[in-house]
Amino acid sequence: MKKGLFITFEGIDGCGKTTQARLLAKVLKKAGHEVLLTREPGGTSLGKRLRQLLLNPNSKVCAEAELFLYLADRAQHVREVIAPALKQGRIVISERFADSTVAYQGAGRNLSRKRVEPLNRIATAGLKPNLTFLLNIPLSTAQDRKANHPLPADRLERLEKSFHQRLAWEYRKLAAEEPRRIHLIKAAGSIEQVHQRVMKALFKAYPTLQKGDSPTPSQRSKKK
Ligand SMILES: Nc1ncnc2c1ncn2[C@@H]1O[C@H](COP(=O)(O)OP(=O)(O)OP(=O)(O)O)[C@@H](O)[C@H]1O
Ligand SMILES: [Mg+2]
Repeated sequence: MKKGLFITFEGIDGCGKTTQARLLAKVLKKAGHEVLLTREPGGTSLGKRLRQLLLNPNSKVCAEAELFLYLADRAQHVREVIAPALKQGRIVISERFADSTVAYQGAGRNLSRKRVEPLNRIATAGLKPNLTFLLNIPLSTAQDRKANHPLPADRLERLEKSFHQRLAWEYRKLAAEEPRRIHLIKAAGSIEQVHQRVMKALFKAYPTLQKGDSPTPSQRSKKK
C-alpha cells in the first residue's frame, strides 16, 4: 500500500524538469524528509540500458517499439524503485512518468491515447502520482535553453516541430482534465522564480510538508 508521497515533473524537452526536481529534492531533504529522486527512462539498471537505446540518435526504433520500451522501463521502475520507496513512507520525485507516454507516444507519435492508456495501467500497476508539476513554457524558450546545453540533442529532441507541438498540446489537455493532480507551473523566468512557484503549489496541496512533518496523515499517526 502506498504511504509516502509521489511527485512527478512533466513537460517538453528543456522545460527545466531536471533543474527543478533536483532543487525540490534538496529543499525537502534539508527539511528532514526522506527523499528519493529518480527519472524515466533510466531509474533502474534495466532502465539505464533502455534509456541508451531510446535516446541514442543512431537507434532505429519504430513508434510501437518505442512505446513498449518506455513501458518496460516504467514497469521495472515502479516495482523495483518507486513502490518500495513509497511503502517505506519516502517522498519519491520522478522526472517523467506515465503522462509522458500519453503525451509523447500517444499524441507525439500519433499512437492514440485510447490505445496507450490501458498499457500504461499495466506498466504502473495502477500507481498514480499524488502531485504532478507540469512545467509550461513556449517551445521556442525550451529550444533556446537546450541550445545552450552542452549535450547533443537526443533521438526524440531531433524530431520535427509539429511532434513537439502535439505533445505540448496533449500535456495542457491532461492538466485541464486533472487539475487537482496536475499543477500547471509557469516555467518561464529564472530558476529561482520557477522553484518558488513549485514550492507554493506543493505547500498549498500539502501544507504539513512546510513544517517537515511526514507527507501523509496516516504516517503521522503511526509515528506517535
Ligand atoms: N528557469 C530557467 N532559466 C534559464 N535556463 C534554465 C532554467 N531552467 C533550466 N534552465 C537550463 O535549461 C537547460 C534545460 O533544463 P533541464 O535540463 O532542467 O530541462 P529538462 O526538462 O530536464 O530537459 P530534458 O527534457 O532534456 O531532460 C539546462 O541547461 C538548464 O540549466
Ligand atoms: Mg531532464
